[in-house]
Amino acid sequence: MNSQKEEVKEYYGKTLQGSDDLKTNACCCDALSVPLHVREILKNIEDEVLTKYYGCGSPIPEAVEGCTTLDLGCGTGRDVYTFSKLIGERGKAIGIDMTDEQLAVANKYIDSQAKRFGFEKTNVEFLKGEIEDLKAVNIADNSIDIVTSNCVINLATDKRNVFSEIFRVLKPGGELYFSDVFSDKRVPSLISTDPIMYGECLGGTLYFEDFRRLLCDLGFPAYSIVSVKPITIQNEEIEKKAGNIKFTSITIRVFKIKGLEDRCEDYGQIAIYKGGIPHSENCFKLDSGHAFTKNKPTSVCRNTAKILTESRFGKYFEISEEAEHFGLFPDCEQKIKAETKGCC
Ligand SMILES: C[S@@+](CC[C@H](N)C(=O)[O-])C[C@H]1O[C@@H](n2cnc3c(N)ncnc32)[C@H](O)[C@@H]1O
Repeated sequence: MNSQKEEVKEYYGKTLQGSDDLKTNACCCDALSVPLHVREILKNIEDEVLTKYYGCGSPIPEAVEGCTTLDLGCGTGRDVYTFSKLIGERGKAIGIDMTDEQLAVANKYIDSQAKRFGFEKTNVEFLKGEIEDLKAVNIADNSIDIVTSNCVINLATDKRNVFSEIFRVLKPGGELYFSDVFSDKRVPSLISTDPIMYGECLGGTLYFEDFRRLLCDLGFPAYSIVSVKPITIQNEEIEKKAGNIKFTSITIRVFKIKGLEDRCEDYGQIAIYKGGIPHSENCFKLDSGHAFTKNKPTSVCRNTAKILTESRFGKYFEISEEAEHFGLFPDCEQKIKAETKGCC
């Protein structure tokens, strides 16, 4: 194992005892950005799991009942246990992490959490391993409905392997839904080799354009942005070191659907949300650029039409066939890039 990984294990296993020990606000998520129904579930999760939470977002998508989910870098398991409740006893929530101390806390509460949720037996499993190599922990090809991750991929030393493994294990139509810290420039080595900057989820961040290029290279050029939150750091010394690099926590969704394009094309298609998605009965927000009001015909680009047809959301939508090509669908791109919140 390389030394940067050892430093990360030391940081999350020994240096930090809880979120109060963090030196910046990068690995923090304000309570208000967590959806109400998730906040209700958190009230029923063990205190020690919550105290050692170091996420930067709330990567819990909709319509997960019965799904198999995989949380990369699950830590003490806050998001895994949240999924456990939402997917129910027919689903399975798997978490993977490389740090023993984090996994020890996660494993400690498997039975008590199942009881708290009223389950006969647990639907949760924690695995020890590295997110760069999911084969090593026997995660089979095309076996996972939703891969999630919260403030972890920035810490991975081989990000290409992480994304390539994600697309290997996802089922066709499955989804990567994750929150992470990104930078607006490539991070220079002075910062990326600083153990505190790295451990605090700043030093290893991907420059957003490099992330976009990586997805294209792997054959999945379409991503969408769910939410964006600038990171203010709140530590004078570290802010000085960061210089003019801007860090942002972004929640992103990427579907494993073949044939999506890098830009949105207009084929005159219409989507109608029929309702039925739990907690989004009257309006379903796919991302910051797409909110669907129940029963209201809405124009969509071909990428969105394909996603709404071929993913688990298919049963909640009626989508019209492709008509002629009308060129780019500019609306879509502008909306996705805009930082909009709470459009429902
Ligand atoms: C910032 S914490 C986030 C933990 C958790 N997602 C949460 O929200 O509390 C990062 C976690 O990722 C784990 N981690 C970092 N790099 C990893 C890797 N390459 N493979 C597996 N786990 C990793 C660390 O052990 C740590 O528990």
